[in-house]
Amino acid sequence: MTRSVLIVSPNAAVAAAIEQSFAADPDIRIAREATTLARMNGHAAEAASRFDMILFETRPEVASDVEAIRTMAANRTPGTRLVALADADITLSEVRLLTEAGADEVLPLAGDGSRSRASRDRHAEPAAAPDRHGRIIAVVQARGGIGSTTVAVNLADQLVQGAGLARKAARPKVALVDLDLQFGSVGTLLNLEEQDTLHQLALDGTVPDGHFLAQSMPVLDSGLAVLAAPAKFAPLESLRSDQVAAILDNLRAAHDYVVVDLPRAFVSWIEPVVERTDELMVVTDLSVASVRHCRRLIDFFTQDNPALPVELVVNHRRKPLMTSSLQREVAKALERPLKHWLPHDARAADAAGGRGEPLSRAAPRSSLGRAMTRLASSTRTSLSVAAPSTQN
Ligand SMILES: Nc1ncnc2c1ncn2[C@@H]1O[C@H](COP(=O)(O)OP(=O)(O)OP(=O)(O)O)[C@@H](O)[C@H]1O
Ligand SMILES: [Mg+2]
Repeated sequence: MTRSVLIVSPNAAVAAAIEQSFAADPDIRIAREATTLARMNGHAAEAASRFDMILFETRPEVASDVEAIRTMAANRTPGTRLVALADADITLSEVRLLTEAGADEVLPLAGDGSRSRASRDRHAEPAAAPDRHGRIIAVVQARGGIGSTTVAVNLADQLVQGAGLARKAARPKVALVDLDLQFGSVGTLLNLEEQDTLHQLALDGTVPDGHFLAQSMPVLDSGLAVLAAPAKFAPLESLRSDQVAAILDNLRAAHDYVVVDLPRAFVSWIEPVVERTDELMVVTDLSVASVRHCRRLIDFFTQDNPALPVELVVNHRRKPLMTSSLQREVAKALERPLKHWLPHDARAADAAGGRGEPLSRAAPRSSLGRAMTRLASSTRTSLSVAAPSTQN
């Protein structure tokens, strides 16, 4: 008999690991909710009546989570098992709190996000319990047309392919967001149908939740989820900070990486982006005007977070064999090495643009395609997803 299992976790790695542990059983049908129990609201009660088992990641110290367990327990059909997944260092009194609220079982999460072992004896094994969420990479440009959207699109596309992982299910989850509301070209570069989502949010002023975003964002064959700029004209200031914050928070809860293409103009809702950025990627050339603008961008993003990693990407230039005095001066002015170089490769760029495909499909072996692979590989290393986040 088929049994249905719902996995509720904002953490894609945890959800994937649990799903994997059921993979050998063909009679189990798995559904996922990439959110927290509390954020499911009334939906949690409804889920309790529909599934045979609900596995949910929870934090006993979050009162709304415990309340959601109570609601599920009260609404479940007889036989539905509620299984709480908690940090491995959960205390016995916290376990009691969860079971009293209605959880049938409490399983500790291992450090790698997989189930360690059933804690039938209600005893948790000590293991690192990372508080993980996806990394936000903000891509900005030193001047118009320098190639920042090309970088954002291809970086996201390369990140979603994973580091040589064979199985698609084990690939990282990646979202690409075009916040260049007026001139955004992510949708065009990926040949997507026009999207209305950001325009709708701007019009009705609602704060989006994870469900809304998951439903509105098309997912490409590669697995990349895309939130494109509106097709209709939307003033840059038509989004509010709390809306942008909610977009980023929900996306990073459900993805390992969130790549954000930003407009050149400074906008009122930039603050939540700056606060949440885990890595700033600045696409530039070596002209005086561009370098000045880079400096302003870097200062702006690092003023409250001096330790923010900043990666400089020099576009339209092959990596030089020897460092020139100009390059040394630029690196000095920006207080960072000119680490990444993307060669000028009009043929590859045109092929990708013309077909509406990322370079990995349109021109994978081109010099530009290979440079993007290197950029993603370096980003993956510097932003090791497993590392605990310093922000909240
Ligand atoms: N390394 C490169 N070699 C050749 N062409 C490139 C390269 N990088 C980008 N391009 C091309 O330059 C043009 C502008 O690129 P893109 O849209 O990515 O720039 P942008 O900085 O996002 O521009 P905007 O200011 O409009 O947002 C595109 O036609 C793109 O294909
Ligand atoms: Mg652009």
